[in-house]
Order: sequence, then C-alpha cells, then structure tokens
Amino acid sequence: MNKKIKKILNKKNKSKVICLTAYSKNVASILDKYCDLVLVGDSLGSVLYNYKSTKEVTLKTMINHSKSVRHGVKKSLMVVDMPYNTYRNPKEALKNAKIVMKKTKCDAVKLEGGKKIISIVKNLIKNKIPVMGHLGILPQTEKKFIFKGKKRDEINKLLKDSKLLEEAGIFSIVLECVETKLSKKITQQLKIPTIGIGSSAYCDGQVLVIDDLIGLNKTKLKFVKKFVDVGKVIQIAVKKYRSEVLNKKFPSFKHSFRNKFN
Ligand code: KIV
Repeated sequence: MNKKIKKILNKKNKSKVICLTAYSKNVASILDKYCDLVLVGDSLGSVLYNYKSTKEVTLKTMINHSKSVRHGVKKSLMVVDMPYNTYRNPKEALKNAKIVMKKTKCDAVKLEGGKKIISIVKNLIKNKIPVMGHLGILPQTEKKFIFKGKKRDEINKLLKDSKLLEEAGIFSIVLECVETKLSKKITQQLKIPTIGIGSSAYCDGQVLVIDDLIGLNKTKLKFVKKFVDVGKVIQIAVKKYRSEVLNKKFPSFKHSFRNKFN
C-alpha cells in the first residue's frame, strides 16, 4: 500500500486529516507543508471557469491542472477528481483513471456516488488504482443543493452506501453537507477516515476549497469560513504598482538592465 495512504488511514481516531483543494503549482506548494491530502477538485469548474456545474469539467482540464499541482505537492497525498461522465461503467472508468494516474502522477482518484458505482470502484481497486469516495451532496449530479440526512430513508441510504464503499476498498471518503448526527454515525461505523465539508467536526478530517478559505471566491455558503482576505492584499499590491508605474518610481534603475560602460 502507498505509504501516504497508510499514513492517512493511521490517523483514524488519533489525529485529524487536513485536506484542501489546489488547482495550480504555487498554491499547492504552500498547502503541501500543512496538509495530509491535496485534492485537485472538479470544483475548479465553478471556481476558475465560472461554469454553472461541475458537469462541464473535462478530463483534459483536470489533467492539465493536476500536472501543475503535481509540481507543488511533494509530501502530501495527491488526489484527483474524476470528472462527470468519465466513469459511467467499469471499463470506461478504468481507461480514464489509468490516463489520469499516468499523466498526472497523482496518488489516487475520487469518485462521487454510492451503491451505483460499487462495481466501478471495485474494478479500479482491483487494478491498483486507489479510490477516495464522495457521499452527501454530489455536485456532479445533484439537483437540489440542500444538506443530506433530513429524512429516514436518506439517512439509511447514506449509512448503507458508506459501508458498501468501505467494503469495496476505498481508503477514505468525503462527506459533503451531511447532517451532524449522521456524519458522526457514519464516522463511527467506518474504519476508514471520513473527510467533512459542511459535515461537522465529528468527521475524521476536513476539506475546503482553498479559494474560499483565502477569500478569493465570493461565496456565502454556510460551511465556508474565510480565514484571510487575500483579495485585499492583492488589491494593495496592485494599487501600489499602478501608482509607482504612473509616477515613474517603478521600474527603477535597480530593476533595469544597464551596460557597465554607460
Ligand atoms: O471538487 C471539489 O473541490 C471537492 C471538494 C469540495 C470535496 O470535491
């Protein structure tokens, strides 16, 4: 088993699993110092490309961003989202996951869904492709973005699906917007770590979209906390740059090339 995956599994009931998304090298290299897992999420569709849904994200886009992220991630586990319509059956999933693994050199892939994708997950794992699960709100296919675990049948389905995924061999699972008591129950019933986003502190780990955390993405989602406003810092720098260029303060001699004999 991949050593980094083993490390994440060993954190269960001991220490939180720290995860964030990254879409490019420079940000990824900062996150790598503090995260156990860096996810190239297909959330990049809405965050970077302004798509209405992650359905529009292609395999090529995921591969390009993942290649960039790979240059920044050295110590953390790097997971790449399989985009919508790239894993409709075991054969298609294996073909595409192999391409993702080969081209991006990531450690694992993430797939959305429960019972419906069990044969797909099993086939990937049988072929030595580590898989991370994703239950709760499934952005690739969701119609209504409301938290999961309100109704009895929904609760039972999530408890069952998470168990089925664990039995299929996934090493960890994202729980997106799952009701607090239910995420606690799922976390307690599984041996693998649960990673929450909008799913309470009962999960074994936490993930957020980096642009949300640093205030670059103007989102007002309940589960998002803006830890810093990087937008303000960029504004200060850009204003200063504009003023110095207008006032001929920048570029100075220090920033210009000159021949010694001049
Ligand atoms: O696409 C993504 O960024 C994700 C995380 C929010 C879990 O799936």
